[in-house]
Amino acid sequence: MKGILLAGGIGSRLWPSTQAISKHLIPIYDKPMIFYPLSVLMLAEIREVVIVSTPEHKNLFESLFGTGRHLGMEISHVVQPEPKGIADAILCVKEFIGENSFCLILGDNIFYGPNFREKLLLAKNRQYGATIFGYHVKDPKQFGVIDFGDDGNPQSIVEKPAYPKSNVAVTGLYFFDNKAVEFASNCEPSIRGELEINSVISNYIENQTLTTEILGRGFAWLDTGTPSAMLEAAQFIETLERLQGYKIACIEEIAFNNSWIGLSEIKNLTSERSSNYSSYLTSLIS
Ligand code: DAU
Repeated sequence: MKGILLAGGIGSRLWPSTQAISKHLIPIYDKPMIFYPLSVLMLAEIREVVIVSTPEHKNLFESLFGTGRHLGMEISHVVQPEPKGIADAILCVKEFIGENSFCLILGDNIFYGPNFREKLLLAKNRQYGATIFGYHVKDPKQFGVIDFGDDGNPQSIVEKPAYPKSNVAVTGLYFFDNKAVEFASNCEPSIRGELEINSVISNYIENQTLTTEILGRGFAWLDTGTPSAMLEAAQFIETLERLQGYKIACIEEIAFNNSWIGLSEIKNLTSERSSNYSSYLTSLIS
């Protein structure tokens, strides 16, 4: 299975912070935003990942991650020329996907909760169809919202509805079989001019091959698309890391736990660096 990490878009809700850099590089507490979704792909044991970004920012992601060798991964970088929607981004990486299934994650989504690795591996190991993750939110209007039928299964997903039919938002984490590429190719632009990911998911609803996992009350899902949401997320991460002493989304630690890199690689990364993040890595070694 391949991984697609979306870091395109213009970040207009964060302007002027996004005038010169991609929002995905702005820190959420002690690490760039993009570390959080990348860590999810790594927890799902997906080693081959493409980062989709804008023509202006591709070089920044290249300098942050390079080829991913330091993480024992294969990271490549592809440009989405214009932010024409999440399904459009799938079409930009058609060649990378090839005949494979893939996991797509939005670069501004943070997930934290119990047994997450197991949930991810379960979705990854489904042989066909798609898996989405729903999350109960107080204000669903700003998300894709699931409309459940009488049988309890999703009958449609509506993007940012004025009158949501439920409080269950679709999070920005999707597992797709290869059919998603064809579904994305057949998408028509929405009223806001984007190829919507929910049009792709609708095909799976029609074919009855969509699995919906609900992330329950003990779970945290944060979409960090606005200044307040970023502050909230940073405070959440800081609190947990301070209380527990563990770091969230420490990608080098996950790579080590996955046996993708060894102690010497971590040592190389931390030498001559004096941040709290590097001290954490040093403490792991000792
Ligand atoms: O966060 C979950 C929500 O994400 C879902 O509930 C919605 O169904 C889904 O459409 C999406 O809504 P957003 O309004 O949050 O999408 P946004 O335009 O903010 O983009 C989300 C991420 O995808 C962000 O990291 C930028 C990236 N992106 C977005 C577009 C439109 C791209 O890389 N390329 C694009 O063309």
